[in-house]
Amino acid sequence: MARRSKDEVRDFALGRVIAIVNDKGGVGKTSIAANLGGQFAGAGYRCLLIDLNRQANLADDLGYRGTDVDDQGAGLLGSVLAGTPLVPAPNVRPQLDVVCGGARLEDLTPVMVSRLQHHGRKAFRVLGDVLAPVATDYEVVFVDCPPESTILSDLALAASRWVLMPTKSDLGGLVGMGLVAERFTLAREINPRLGLLGVVLFDTGSRSRAIHSEARAAIDRAFGGDSPRFATTIRHAERTAQDARRLGKLAHELEIELAAQPAWWEALRLDIRAPRVSPSAASVAGDYRALGVEVLSALQAAEEAERAGTPGGASAPA
Ligand SMILES: Nc1ncnc2c1ncn2[C@@H]1O[C@H](COP(=O)(O)OP(=O)(O)OP(=O)(O)O)[C@@H](O)[C@H]1O
Ligand SMILES: [Mg+2]
Repeated sequence: MARRSKDEVRDFALGRVIAIVNDKGGVGKTSIAANLGGQFAGAGYRCLLIDLNRQANLADDLGYRGTDVDDQGAGLLGSVLAGTPLVPAPNVRPQLDVVCGGARLEDLTPVMVSRLQHHGRKAFRVLGDVLAPVATDYEVVFVDCPPESTILSDLALAASRWVLMPTKSDLGGLVGMGLVAERFTLAREINPRLGLLGVVLFDTGSRSRAIHSEARAAIDRAFGGDSPRFATTIRHAERTAQDARRLGKLAHELEIELAAQPAWWEALRLDIRAPRVSPSAASVAGDYRALGVEVLSALQAAEEAERAGTPGGASAPA
């Protein structure tokens, strides 16, 4: 049997790494990473989340900020700088591990600037190099990218097989998307396998078809042609978003709390004063469930097409 080359082994290991990217801030990157990770892990998939953010909101969404596992990005920094093995923090939920982000990631940018000067863009491959030996332990890996940090997002794009891009339907969100499309094209020079898995509309206040189809036309303009989009949108639900970060719980976990909490009149009668979980948690959890199913189907369809030697569909960028 033919032996695989080093590059083939690396490509295989990174085949289910999905970068969640948009240069625009506040478009749902972290919420989607946390909730999809939680959904997949809950469904029995071994899942890894990598946090490339200095503010590390993933720690809030999953409730591990300030705990023993929260190394503020020190482990990831050490791996990229010194090549030490990447050791994810295990079991932030059953089947769900994380590589923490945080303030220590500040030091990554100047180092990468210097490496880029010496080695050119292929220096961005370093994250994939340290991730590949670990990624084979997982069925899906999500990388939560920061806003407005070219270098950290470029590291993610060079390590990933797929891009999942959340956007809001407003003009600001759609402009950020154009920047990602440019970055995406550049990243393919050193990572030709990178494909767009899909774009997802986040925090959509309107069920208006006109607004959604305008946003979709803008996505097609940015990525060229008929770009893949997920039919599921994540609805606007401010109270559930606040509950999630306050309690360090994912939407489907809030949904379970919601089902268990007494009716408000019962709470009044019993003088229970704990803040109540918003009823919108159940709808938001449903959105993430539907998105998870779509993401898995897109992955499976793309992988089947690749096996059959007819790559296309979700993997075709402009
Ligand atoms: N369904 C929702 N409806 C309204 N707001 C939401 C919803 N889900 C999350 N949010 C809130 O929207 C804000 C942005 O979400 P999130 O942090 O996921 O975006 P981001 O793209 O990761 O942001 P950044 O670029 O700053 O890292 C957060 O305050 C979050 O609590
Ligand atoms: Mg974020």
